[in-house]
Amino acid sequence: MHPTSFDAAVVRRHATRHFADTPVDEALLTHLLALTRRAPTGYDAQPWCAVVVRDPAIKRRLRAACLGQAQVEEAPAVVVFAADTRPAAKIGAIAAHNVALGAWSPRYGRFMRRYVRFRLGSRWLDPVKALGAWLVGWFRSAPYVPVGRHARRAYATKQTMLAAQTFLLAAAAHGLDTCPMEGLDPHRARRAVGLSRRWWVPLVVPVGVAATRPQVPSGRVPANQQIFLDRAGTPLPGVSAADAALLAAHHSRTQRSATEA
Ligand SMILES: Cc1cc2nc3c(=O)[nH]c(=O)nc-3n(C[C@H](O)[C@H](O)[C@H](O)COP(=O)(O)O)c2cc1C
Repeated sequence: MHPTSFDAAVVRRHATRHFADTPVDEALLTHLLALTRRAPTGYDAQPWCAVVVRDPAIKRRLRAACLGQAQVEEAPAVVVFAADTRPAAKIGAIAAHNVALGAWSPRYGRFMRRYVRFRLGSRWLDPVKALGAWLVGWFRSAPYVPVGRHARRAYATKQTMLAAQTFLLAAAAHGLDTCPMEGLDPHRARRAVGLSRRWWVPLVVPVGVAATRPQVPSGRVPANQQIFLDRAGTPLPGVSAADAALLAAHHSRTQRSATEA
């Protein structure tokens, strides 16, 4: 299967609630996950992992954790995306790797190791960091410091979702269907795939071939209420027309492929 254009993949992707029996090629799934790994993360800290589930017994447990949603068991594979609540944990190895690759200078690598450990780790310094950021913020821009368990989880979740989105679009580009799912019990979903309490599951993604495709893509709020120029509330000129053109192109592609079929 050849990847379609980016535009086509973006509009083609839809949340699939029912999957056909069609299996997913193992090599293709591996390729999609290799693409997923290219997703960006803050400081390249990569605070996420993904567990691909094919085992029917584990899928059954996962479905129960996902409030019984049928797509989890129907899909030939399910990818569980997990956020690392210790987002600085891997920075030492990552810095060494980037320096060895030549992507980072040794000096930058040393700086990142120290800075990321301070900003995202060093839990015992949380009160000092919170106070410091608040004080500095009175005088000049201060970076957001994720302080406390919930903030670190939110920080790692933000990074994980970019990886998950990369996966959704990669799958669409390669003719596969997915359903991003947050309707789940994160603790049960985590346990179903053997992840420790260090991990938090924000999203589970069944992947396969849709049993049926929607006639029209789902709606979005008017573009001029969502995309602004310079100041919130001033619509970016032309954005509504661009939106309409995108959907028109999708419509003519679907009609063309229906005529060819
Ligand atoms: C973070 C997130 C969580 C979602 N959780 C679920 C879910 O648990 N079950 C489900 O059927 N759809 C879920 N969806 C799918 C949305 O309902 C769907 O993306 C939205 O209605 C837009 O439709 P579309 O994806 O087909 O364009 C989720 C989507 C996102 C982005």
